Amino acid sequence: VGHIDDVQELRKSKLTSIPQRFIRDIAEDPSLSTLTPPSPSSKPSFTAIPVVDLSKLTQNTQLSKLATACQDWGFFQVINHGIDPGLLERLEKVSMDFFMMPLEEKQKYPMAPGTIQGYGQAFVFSENQKLDWCNMFALGVEPHSIRNPKLWPTKPTKFSETVEEYSREIRGLCQKLLSFIATALGLNKDTFEEKFGVAVQAVRMNYYPPCSRPDLVMGLSPHSDGSALTVLQERKGSPVGLQILKDNKWVPVQPIPDALVVNIGDTIEVLTNGRYKSVEHRAVTHKDKDRLSIATFYAPSYEIELGPIPELVNENSPCRYRRYNHGEYSKHYVTNKLQGKRTLDFAK
Ligand code: SIN
Ligand code: FE2
Repeated sequence: VGHIDDVQELRKSKLTSIPQRFIRDIAEDPSLSTLTPPSPSSKPSFTAIPVVDLSKLTQNTQLSKLATACQDWGFFQVINHGIDPGLLERLEKVSMDFFMMPLEEKQKYPMAPGTIQGYGQAFVFSENQKLDWCNMFALGVEPHSIRNPKLWPTKPTKFSETVEEYSREIRGLCQKLLSFIATALGLNKDTFEEKFGVAVQAVRMNYYPPCSRPDLVMGLSPHSDGSALTVLQERKGSPVGLQILKDNKWVPVQPIPDALVVNIGDTIEVLTNGRYKSVEHRAVTHKDKDRLSIATFYAPSYEIELGPIPELVNENSPCRYRRYNHGEYSKHYVTNKLQGKRTLDFAK
């Protein structure tokens, strides 16, 4: 990404119009949303997506709430997750400090084409492809063999150690959630852990500067996630930006302070033979507010072969996906542009 396509630089240059490469088709309708988000003063119980209390998941009523969330929404917010809010805040701080550094400093960690590690715009493969109004910084975290040490920033000073500490906590959360998800499906609680091998974990920070014409640009193009689970943290005080496609409408997600947003990725959709949905989502921008989100992707080891779990395939639910190698799927995912649920066609 050159100077010219870096949205923070564009913002600074006080352009009078949005460059053509960012302007979306009318049909894509980037305007805020089709529904109005609840006002910030409304109680968390009014949020559209389900709320799951991790500390209560040993109880059947909470477990069935999780099952409904995964089946009907593909998204939920998790509260009482046990991760120190102070750590979440520290991660937000180092992430913001990173994006606020001069471009030259960030460009010491360039994202190579066809990878999602480093600073830049992922998923861009042609000159005529539209660009998202977003800057990204992404790192492979686990296992250590996927790390590119040259991309782990030395500035801001606490950046790398904070990401490391945060990632450990999120890994624990993903493992707990997957065991509850397996239980909710009537499977042995270790089903996913056993299938995944040493799970791959990556983190991506998304920074969306304000945009003078949020009605014309997209923060992040519609897509489903190529992970098994994704955990999303939104900076406290950020405006609503994430929207999920529910019954053909874009529904805004109003984050609960200190909660984490979790969504089902393509891997779980395939393993559950479509019972649990990897739901399409996108991010929109704002006229005068910036927004930071931090996504952790948790996925099987690359050498794993995946396909619907036999217990979840029967006459009422015939097999909907083929078996494939997860490494090949990941490669396919990162070398194609984001396009709704198109990447899942690979598994059909
Ligand atoms: C994502 O889908 O990776 C992030 C969306 C967001 O910024 O909320
Ligand atoms: Fe996503």
